[in-house]
Amino acid sequence: MVKLTPPMGWNSWNTFGANINEELIKETADVMVESGLLAKGYEYLVIDDCWSLKTRDENERLVPDPEKFPNGMKAVADYVHSKGLKFGMYSCAGNLTCAGYPGSFEHEFIDAKTFAEWGVDFLKYDYCYHSPIIHGQYLYRRMGLALENCGRDILFSACSWGSDQTHEWIKTSAASMWRSTGDIFDTWESVKDLTKQQEKLHPYNGVGCFNDMDMLIVGMYGEGNVGLKGCTDTQYKTHYSIWALLGSPLMIGCDIRKMNEATKEILCNDELIAINQDRACRQPVKLNGIWSGDDMVIYSRQLENGDVAIGLFNLSEEKAAARFNLDEIGLGFSTGKTLDMHEVWTKEDFRVENSTVIRELPPFGCEVYRAKVVDL
Ligand code: GLA
Repeated sequence: MVKLTPPMGWNSWNTFGANINEELIKETADVMVESGLLAKGYEYLVIDDCWSLKTRDENERLVPDPEKFPNGMKAVADYVHSKGLKFGMYSCAGNLTCAGYPGSFEHEFIDAKTFAEWGVDFLKYDYCYHSPIIHGQYLYRRMGLALENCGRDILFSACSWGSDQTHEWIKTSAASMWRSTGDIFDTWESVKDLTKQQEKLHPYNGVGCFNDMDMLIVGMYGEGNVGLKGCTDTQYKTHYSIWALLGSPLMIGCDIRKMNEATKEILCNDELIAINQDRACRQPVKLNGIWSGDDMVIYSRQLENGDVAIGLFNLSEEKAAARFNLDEIGLGFSTGKTLDMHEVWTKEDFRVENSTVIRELPPFGCEVYRAKVVDL
């Protein structure tokens, strides 16, 4: 299956871990529609690890845990589809999943067929307990082929955390997205760490196979499976802005049944979603900035209609100034052009008059612009 823009949706892992069941999935599906998240583009509802029994049936097929999913997976998929959503599930390239349930190793084709029969539209494919002898690229190509031949369009979401040089071979599988970094946790340090780890991988993001920076922690406030210290709304806003601007898939990880207004506002910023979903899917650029320091990161990305998205992110706990020159965007003074800047959160507009932009940002704060090229 070919996906032309970064996938968007919800995944059970960050908040619920092993505590998943049919009721939760149905309630989440209802909220995805009623809260307007589906209308914004969040279309995949994905059940992560811990959904099956610990053993396969007599035909070697995976079996949903009857206590968690008493009506089987087809019933869950049918409900999710009846809401206009797409249904995602999880397996692993190893013998076992990361939480110790049966993985798909040596069962790739039979599992792909089972998922297709249940009505699955998305498969997240992890990398725990994988063979020490067979290289990851073969394991991901195997499942990629199994999915391409299962008779149903299933988006392949690879999750090998960037290990074994995933970026060099992942596009040889049928993956539409690939986890480029390790697991996220609900702390600011985790957001900062993943942001910086991602920088060397910017060149590999692109149309059809998106760098997945992991599920969002927005709105978790330290609750749930990967909830540790939690973050502030300012930090969640900056986290979301970075993931969106860099073109990562946007998979919500909080309990949306309890989502507050601040969380909803962050997840539903139309202008930012439009930047994330820009069809050109161009490579992000890290600007050098001027005296900006390691913790002031500035990224830009050229958009399909000629606009430029520019994000200023203060990763430090001190207020700080972001400074950059339009030269770095491609607008040297001799071009006779400048930028009309429009900030997507505050809706502030201004024109750059002297080639340099200087903005003061609060601790952990950010500004994201959609900038238009205009005559000087
Ligand atoms: C790995 C993945 C996580 C999650 C868990 C489930 O750690 O990276 O995203 O799927 O496994 O066990």
